[in-house]
Amino acid sequence: MRKHIVAGNWKMNLTFNEADELLDELMSELEKVELPRDEQVVVCPPFPYIEMASDYANDSYFQVGAQNVSDKDKGAYTGEVSAEMLESCEIDWCIVGHSERRAYYGETDELVAAKVDQLLKHDLKPIVCVGEVLEEREAGRQFDVVKTQVEKGLFHLDTENIKKIVIAYEPVWAIGTGKTATPEQAQEIHAHIRSLLAAKYGKEVTDEISILYGGSCKPGNAKELFACPDIDGGLIGGASLKAADFMGIVTAF
Ligand code: PGA
Repeated sequence: MRKHIVAGNWKMNLTFNEADELLDELMSELEKVELPRDEQVVVCPPFPYIEMASDYANDSYFQVGAQNVSDKDKGAYTGEVSAEMLESCEIDWCIVGHSERRAYYGETDELVAAKVDQLLKHDLKPIVCVGEVLEEREAGRQFDVVKTQVEKGLFHLDTENIKKIVIAYEPVWAIGTGKTATPEQAQEIHAHIRSLLAAKYGKEVTDEISILYGGSCKPGNAKELFACPDIDGGLIGGASLKAADFMGIVTAF
């Protein structure tokens, strides 16, 4: 049985007080609802607020994730944060290979693979993002692009480790644009990713891997997206910055 996951990616937003307010609201909303046992809520704030988020989380309502991690162990890498540090702060999750990191900070599939290895070494759960840009979709190359990202980022893993991965399909043209992929467009790529995994690791293993959708997911479209057979939840950007919107997605299963 695959876990249903709704993860909020705050990106580089909110001041300390705003973050505190949002976490406070989120906690009181989460306390009111009874989520299905197979659903996990994850909040990924900027690094300075990670400890505050952990204090709120109590593990019972949501878990905390980072938005990035270094590919290196430790040492003279100014500005970087290691997987070991995240582990020592009892962080459970980390987003890797987000399209914004690929586009603005030159992250390659090789770097994504190295970061995934660091996270697994320190028992963190990677949420690995893949997805095509608009020109690639217009050229009908979305299946190939996603295949390469999945293969290069993840296929060095053995069966035990691939099961620890969560994949997020985020068509870049849908991120922050208000243009959501239709449930059909999303389902088609999710099924494609699952079939790639099944061909390499077998169906049984693949059935345990959650694949999330990301890209302008909102309370108004989450239900329809999450109803697709291969969509196991969402990675939520903009709508994770408002407790009511995020809760609308969290309760969409
Ligand atoms: P969005 O971002 O929901 O604001 O489109 C999603 C993401 O980038 O993870």
